[in-house]
Order: sequence, then structure tokens, then C-alpha cells
Amino acid sequence: MRIDILTLFPPMFEVPFSFGIFQRAVAGGLVSLNTVDIRDYTHDKHHTADDYPYGGGAGMVLKPEPIFEAVEAIKRDAGPEADDLPVILLTPQGRPFSQSIARELSGHRHLVFICGHYEGVDERVCEHLVTDEISIGDYVLTGGELPAMVVIDAVVRLIPGVLGSEESPQEDSHADGLLEYPQYTRPAGFRGWTVPEVLLSGNHARIAKWRREQIIKRTLERRPELLDKASLGREDKQLVKRLTTERSQVNKDRES
Ligand code: ADE
Repeated sequence: MRIDILTLFPPMFEVPFSFGIFQRAVAGGLVSLNTVDIRDYTHDKHHTADDYPYGGGAGMVLKPEPIFEAVEAIKRDAGPEADDLPVILLTPQGRPFSQSIARELSGHRHLVFICGHYEGVDERVCEHLVTDEISIGDYVLTGGELPAMVVIDAVVRLIPGVLGSEESPQEDSHADGLLEYPQYTRPAGFRGWTVPEVLLSGNHARIAKWRREQIIKRTLERRPELLDKASLGREDKQLVKRLTTERSQVNKDRES
């Protein structure tokens, strides 16, 4: 996958993607990451990439011309494949990022990210250039660089071959819309806290059952709204029912 990132601060991307799984993916040719300095597409002496907002108000707005020119240069380079090239703007006004959007983006061979800054980006960029707007959460950061890193990291690890088989993304939290079961490693006893006996039993069926129960229990406790959308089997549903009844019983007991 080729990833182009339009930013005012290209050096921000040098460190995060130079380690571990990501670095291996780049070295192995599975991903190529290319930062584009928006200022390289300005034509004035001061390399002006932003300007005051029409109508007044605080802050500055990123100008449309350099962003259009930078994306057009990428598209010329990409050739015929550029027709359905996703051009993604990171903005708090975008659709909320999720594992399913990461999965969707991981199916593309080429992605372009635009990191917004200041008070935002000229609306003509959103209307006539960008194909998708993504937010990483309901809070405002100083720019789109950190959100781009978050999205790129989540997408790249889903590209086949990027994770080794021992790091399979199938069992991630959110992979099937639910949270992950708890994990333990050696030692079996640590400061008096022991690993659940079932995990030491060697009984794979029991372990699988325990893990599934933990997934349901944890999701019910921490993110119950996820259960409404997940596809649950008969046993899962029975468990949700039992745990919900138990919980409401505990609450009633507390109140009385
Ligand atoms: N830029 C600033 N804040 C952001 C957010 N929460 N998501 C995406 N881009 C942003």
C-alpha cells in the first residue's frame, strides 16, 4: 500500500513509523509512506499555506491552492488508478473512526491523507477534492497529524502479511465488534495474584468457553452498547441474559 500524507510538518512522521511492526512492513515493501510538505506547493516568497478567514473570526484557514496542487501531483503520478483514490481529510467534523473503517481502508492500494490545521481547511477542499472525512474522537487536537498516525497505524496492521501469524488481528478487541478477553503470561503466581486456573488446565475447549464468556462479560460491563450491534450466538445471548439478571439483582440488593 502506498500512503501519501499532506502536512505542514513532515518531520512529525519520521519517528512513529520507524519501529517494530511498521518498520518491518516498510522494509518488506508492504507499505510505502510518503510525506508531502504542503508548503512545497505554494508559489509566493513566504510559502504561505494559510490565510485569514473570510467573514472574520479567530485563527487561520489552510488555503485551497497548495492542497489541490499537491493532490493533483499525486494523482498524475498514480495514473489511471487515481480515479478511485481515497483522499481523506482528518477533521473533528469527520465520520467517527472505527475498526470497520480501518478494515475498509486496508483494502485499498493507495491512500492520501490531508492533515488539517489551525481553524480548518478551506471548504472547497472538502467539497471538491476530499472523498472522505475522518475524526478520531469528539475532542479537538492542534492538527490532523496525530489523527493521521492513529488511522494509518490501525489500517496498516490489517494489511495481509504485516502482522505475523502470532500477532493475528482476528482476536483484537473490536475485531468482531466486542472487547477482548483478559490475557495472562508467566509467572502463574505474582504477588499473591494467580492466573485463572482454567488457563493452566490445557483443556482447549474449556479455555475457549471461558474466553468467550470473558468477552461477553467485559463488553457488557464496559461497553454494553456494543452488544446491541454484535452478532451473538445462542449461548452468548443466554449469558448476556444471565449476567444482566444477576447485575440487576445485585443493584436491587444494594438499594434495599
Ligand atoms: N484534527 C483535530 N482534532 C481532530 C480529531 N479529533 N480527529 C481528526 N482530526 C482532528
